[in-house]
Amino acid sequence: MGLFFNKDKSKPKGKVISLLNQKGGVGKTTMAFNIAHALAKQGEKRVLCIDMDPQANLSLLCSGGVSLEKDNNIFHLLINSIRELKALHTPSVFTDIVVRGETIDLLPSGEELSGFELSVAGISSPRQLILKRFLEKSNILNFYDYVVIDGPPTLGLLVVNILCATDGLLVPFRPDEFSRKGLGHLYGVLENIEDMGIAETPTILAHIPNLVDYRRKQEGQDLEKILGDLKEQFDVPKVVDPFYNRASLVKSQAEKKSVFEFKGKEFDKLQGQFRHIAGLIETWKEEGKSL
Ligand SMILES: Nc1ncnc2c1ncn2[C@@H]1O[C@H](COP(=O)(O)OP(=O)(O)O)[C@@H](O)[C@H]1O
Ligand SMILES: [Mg+2]
Repeated sequence: MGLFFNKDKSKPKGKVISLLNQKGGVGKTTMAFNIAHALAKQGEKRVLCIDMDPQANLSLLCSGGVSLEKDNNIFHLLINSIRELKALHTPSVFTDIVVRGETIDLLPSGEELSGFELSVAGISSPRQLILKRFLEKSNILNFYDYVVIDGPPTLGLLVVNILCATDGLLVPFRPDEFSRKGLGHLYGVLENIEDMGIAETPTILAHIPNLVDYRRKQEGQDLEKILGDLKEQFDVPKVVDPFYNRASLVKSQAEKKSVFEFKGKEFDKLQGQFRHIAGLIETWKEEGKSL
């Protein structure tokens, strides 16, 4: 009985939620930022954002627009977690890198991350599992209820690392022809990971149509096509209500604040939409099974 108790105790309770789509400008960063805030507000959860995009947009948002002026970032943490490379780099530890915020904490990104693939090319341990092993070794999921990862607009090794470390996946997309193709490629990578059997395949928690403008007839038709594709591919396509093109969202981003810090009809609606997604995540986490 004691054994079971220990086993249960050592199982981390935190979940890794990632925002992925290899297309830029679909709302990954916007969603990661606001969903992280929605999660944190839901029962005072502890949330850590990890910015895995070398462009570091989420880092800028989370730090209120103040340049972080850090020599070290998530790249250095990841490299330091690899035994073979550790000796070659300046040491860096979680507590030096983490930026503590009022609501959410952040592991910032930096442009070094664009050289990640090359930096780890020669290692003998599995290159796809660097992020996953780092999260396990650093015990982060025993400290945070949620780790929210913002992905880069690519489909390379960084994304494979994110997919292998993810429990629940959120996929924002724009209702256009290119997004249709893009989603197909992303699910191709997911299938490869499944086939390789190197990590548990993440649960797709939601597809999030974003920047939708129903006044444009073409967009309405493209969205219908994408929904049709998703219905073919998945038994339950899990598509949430679309996010429209909202000036208020642009305004909140410009001020480097979440929508929860503003009042007004448009903000109420946006808050409701982000809260709904946070609710889906929470239910899935509590039930410990697929939605
Ligand atoms: N629903 C929306 N309404 C208006 N602007 C949006 C919306 N979603 C995202 N944006 C804006 O679109 C741009 C791209 O969004 P972003 O989250 O950076 O995408 P990604 O991270 O996928 O590249 C940003 O300037 C953001 O403020
Ligand atoms: Mg982004």
